[in-house]
This record gives sequence, structure tokens and C-alpha cells, in this order.
Amino acid sequence: MTPASHSSDAFVFFGATGDLAYKKIFPALQALIRRGELDMPVIGIAKAGWTLEQLRQRARESLEHAGEVDEQAYAQLCRRLHYIDGDYADPDTFRKLGKALAGAMHPLHYLAIPPSLFPSVIKQLAESGCARDARVVVEKPFGRDLASARALNRVLHGAFEESSIFRIDHYLGKEAVQNLLYFRFANTFLEPVWNRDYVQSVQITMAEDFGVQGRGGFYEETGALRDVVQNHLLQVTALLAMDAPVGHDAASLRAEKLRLFRGMRPLRPDDVVRGQFDGYRDEPGVAKDSNVETFAALRLHIDTWRWAGVPFYIRAGKSLPVTATEILVDLKVPPLAIFDTIEPPQSNYFRFRLSPEVVLSTGARVKRPGEDMRGQSVELVARRDITDQQTPYERLLGDALRGDASLFTSDESVEAAWAVVDPVLDLDMPVLPYAPGSWGPAAAAGVVTELEGWHDPAPEPIPENATTPPGVG
Ligand code: BG6
Repeated sequence: MTPASHSSDAFVFFGATGDLAYKKIFPALQALIRRGELDMPVIGIAKAGWTLEQLRQRARESLEHAGEVDEQAYAQLCRRLHYIDGDYADPDTFRKLGKALAGAMHPLHYLAIPPSLFPSVIKQLAESGCARDARVVVEKPFGRDLASARALNRVLHGAFEESSIFRIDHYLGKEAVQNLLYFRFANTFLEPVWNRDYVQSVQITMAEDFGVQGRGGFYEETGALRDVVQNHLLQVTALLAMDAPVGHDAASLRAEKLRLFRGMRPLRPDDVVRGQFDGYRDEPGVAKDSNVETFAALRLHIDTWRWAGVPFYIRAGKSLPVTATEILVDLKVPPLAIFDTIEPPQSNYFRFRLSPEVVLSTGARVKRPGEDMRGQSVELVARRDITDQQTPYERLLGDALRGDASLFTSDESVEAAWAVVDPVLDLDMPVLPYAPGSWGPAAAAGVVTELEGWHDPAPEPIPENATTPPGVG
């Protein structure tokens, strides 16, 4: 077992010539080098027939694509970089890895490869001795349903202790997502209202204004429920709804999140509306009769003391009108309408914009100037400047190297989250078509009550006289 106090002393990544390495890993490695957190061998593995020089070149292209080559950091990366070209099923590849690791006591192995290859690589790592005192980082998707997630956990536990397994959900590495947890438990004013007595409903929307961007083959195996709901959006729900952890160590945090996941009621078919944007079936790699959903809207119940009876509405989709992830925690209307005869829906709320901007706001009613006691809706808005932040991958890989598992998913949580969506995966019901640029099929309106309606995230206005509130930005 690798005690959490040990930092890793070698970084191994499988899938070195792949898309994820190109888009996310090399930029994260450069950033870690700049912060002095990657003073160790970096060993890339792939079966591409490449040379080390080609991998260095690829790293440069990746950094150029990400918009920043720091020549000094890049030169250091090149000095530390090794490359092993070999088949993941061939023991010889792992013998070479063992040699390259000579001197490293606690390597970190990052599996940036298709999930179908996980079992064979994990087995080879164990048999070659490369898993000893090592950590492993596993990319999403972690399984494709509850049964396969359990099977993958069994394979991992055959080679690594749970404390050495880091399951990535990059959403948890986002600054705005961590702020949810901080904001909830660092402010006293929230706790009295954060429950079934005051909250009417919670909505979480993850909208993307683009389609599958050439990833049709991947998406055909996934769909919106597996791609972003089971992981990103249920994780966000857990942070929003969990009780306070007893400490801020990884174990306490994981324990409370797990309790929350276990309180989520498994979805039933009539809790879910699935949609598919017109044109999806013409994407390369997509079947002409595909029944895969590019949109899902669902009603989730959390059967805990705090949340019983409060609906959590979750919606995610491709080819929607905007790209934005936003949470709206809508508060109940006051018990008596003393001033206005009717309170407009969603007038008293907390709104968290998680991306692309980071915004936190409170919606309230105030008196409209004039003689009448009539009201108007206003928002108190705090915006955060996110230009100089660590990317989720930089943050998460840095944490994994240090052995901090707080932002990673445990075996029990990942299975509990699958148990929520499992009953509605692969439903034998047609998906409903929707026009690209719309908010999904009309039937999605039936997921929420007529009074509430969906809250559609809008492009975030940048106020002309924007000032940064104290302590923000
Ligand atoms: C990924 C999904 O996990 O998250 C993609 O596979 C999705 O389909 C992406 O577009 C969104 O993440 P971000 O950080 O770009 O909002």
C-alpha cells in the first residue's frame, strides 16, 4: 500500500500518442513542471511505432494547440520524457517499463486509454511487479453500467489497494465545483434554508451548443446519461446536497458523499425524457437507426431527512442553444402574498454558474420605486475571474501524485451512482427528436411541474461597470 504521505516518484501514462494526452495531459504536465511538482521521470507508453523524438514533437504540438509553450518547461519535459512503444497485452512492454522505472519506489500509472484495455493493462502491471507500491489513475467512463463498474473495481482491487486507486471525474477538478462545497460549509446563512423546509426544487443544466464533434463512435457507446449524468452531474448533485463532512480529509468527504448517493432513488423510466438532435444519425460513426440519446432530462429524488420530497431536476444535452452549466436552487414562496398578488416563479433562489463563467447569485424580490407596494426581481451577483486558474487535469494529476484522493471517486460511490441510472440505461423506448439549437424535445417540459418550468441558462451578461466584489476574483 502507498501511504498518502508518499509522493509519487515517476509518472507513467498509457495512451501517450492518443487524443487525451494531446488535449489535456501534455498541457497539465507542462503546468506541473512550472510549479515544480513534476521532478521525476515521465514515461509515455503506446503502440504506435513512434520514437521518443516523435513523442517530444507531439508534446510541442499539444502545447501549441493549448496556446502556451513555455520553452523552459518544455525543455525540462523533454529531458524527463521516455517512450515505450509496445502492445499492452505483451509482457515485454511491461518488462521495459520495469527497467525504465528502476529507482522509482512509488510510480503513478495513468490509464488514458479506452476502457476495454483497462483489464489487460492492470493485469500486466500486477504480473510485472510494476503495480507494487504504485498508484493508478483511471479515466472515465468507469464501466458502462453497474455490473461492468463492479467488474472493473474487482480487477483494480486485484492489483491495487483502494487507497491507491484514483478514478478521475474532471468536473471535480473544476474550481467552481470545489467552490460549491466551500460556499455551502463556510457560510452560516445557508444552512437553515438548505433543506426540504425552504427549498422548492433544484435544477442542474449542462448545456452544450455543439454536437458530438467527430466523436460519434465514442458517443454511440455512451449517450448523455453515461457520458455526463452518471458522473459529472450526479457528483455535482452530491456536493450540493450532502451533509457536512466531519473533517476535510478525503475519507470524511467520501463518506458523506457516499451517504448521499445511497439516498438517491434509482430512476424509473417515467422520470426520464431522452432526446436526439436532428442530424446526429448523419455523424461519422453513428448508426443510421441509432437510439442513443444526445439529451436527457430527469427527475431525481433524494430520500434523506434533509431532501425528502424536493425534486432535483437534471438536464444535459448536445446542440442546445448555449454552452453553460448552471444550478438553480429555488426557494419556496413566502407563506402569504402580502404585497404582490402572485410571486413569479423562481424569484427567490441561489444560482451557481459553473462554466464557462463562474457566477454565484441570489435572486430576490425588492420594492419597485413608487407609491405602490409592488415588487420587482433583482439578482445579487458575484462573478469570479477564472483566467488564472489551474485546469482540472493539472489539479487532479497534481493531487494524485501527492496521494490526495479528495477529488476522486471511491469504489462505493461510483457503484452507488451507477445504481441510480442503471434502471434507465438502454431503455427499449425511442428517443425523441429535437431541432439543433433548441432546448430538447418538447416532452422534457413534463419532467418539471408546470408552475416551475425549466430554468434555461442564458449567456452571462458582462456588466459595463463590473467591479469585483470584495474577496471575489
Ligand atoms: C466530458 C464529456 O466528460 O465532458 C464530453 O465526455 C463533454 O461529452 C465534456 O463535452 C464537458 O466538459 P467541459 O469541462 O468541457 O465542460
